[in-house]
Amino acid sequence: MEISCSFILKFNIFATTNELENMKKLVVLTGAGMSAESGISTFRDSGGLWEKYKVEDVATPEAWYKNPALVLDFYNQRRKQLLASMPNAGHKTLAGLEKYFDTQIITQNVDNLHEQAGSTVVLHLHGELLKVRSTGPGQEVFDVDLKNLEIDLGNLCPKGFQLRPHIVWFGEAVPEIENAIQITEQADIFVVIGTSMQVYPAASLINYVKSDTPIYLIDPHEIEYLPAHITLIQKGASEGLEDLKKFLKI
Ligand code: APR
Repeated sequence: MEISCSFILKFNIFATTNELENMKKLVVLTGAGMSAESGISTFRDSGGLWEKYKVEDVATPEAWYKNPALVLDFYNQRRKQLLASMPNAGHKTLAGLEKYFDTQIITQNVDNLHEQAGSTVVLHLHGELLKVRSTGPGQEVFDVDLKNLEIDLGNLCPKGFQLRPHIVWFGEAVPEIENAIQITEQADIFVVIGTSMQVYPAASLINYVKSDTPIYLIDPHEIEYLPAHITLIQKGASEGLEDLKKFLKI
């Protein structure tokens, strides 16, 4: 339902079907660095989330079986942090690129800041903070009540099963990866923003980019080895995206 609404929005406001067909396809893979300027912690930078928490305590199926209350609390805090955050200039610049390109975002982020900024085609590889899922056999997905962000033990789906975060934990399958691969294969321009590319299968997407497709990488950190066909924009997301616009001549 939400996806079809997004497409209607896209065709009506940003470009007609014909215009979209004539546009180049811009595919953008984003990670935690995309939301860093919105005040949302990254995972592996100094001071990042995985310095404060152990992955195996809060983001694995084993953690859920061992201490579900701790896992729920971790994501309750993430949800509160998201609600206190706003899209940054980089999110907005990306949304604005829909005027020029058939833009598709593939994000590892579980926040909804791309959508808040106005991006209409966003694929969430690692789930979404503002959704929860039944632990029952149907694994139905529900929107979180924005007036009550906390999901606790005893919060059940209508069929009586405990709700869990709609997040892809370490050790779980990534259901959207096949879609992400197909999208990546169609890219005329591929941009990577704010990801350490340490988590698979997301990091492997770059291997599916066509050989003649230009690749841009926006990240403020030094990169030890960068293949010659990748252009590094060594800046934060907002500033880096302004540079990207110059490369793309818009
Ligand atoms: N702008 C752009 N990039 C930035 C910024 C910024 N302002 N600040 C930091 N970065 C970069 C860092 O240099 C780093 O390369 O963002 C990257 C963040 O990397 P990670 O913390 O590893 O986050 P990410 O790659 O998104 O993690 C992937 O791992 O823990 C899991 O499921 C979680 O989706 C997440 C996945």
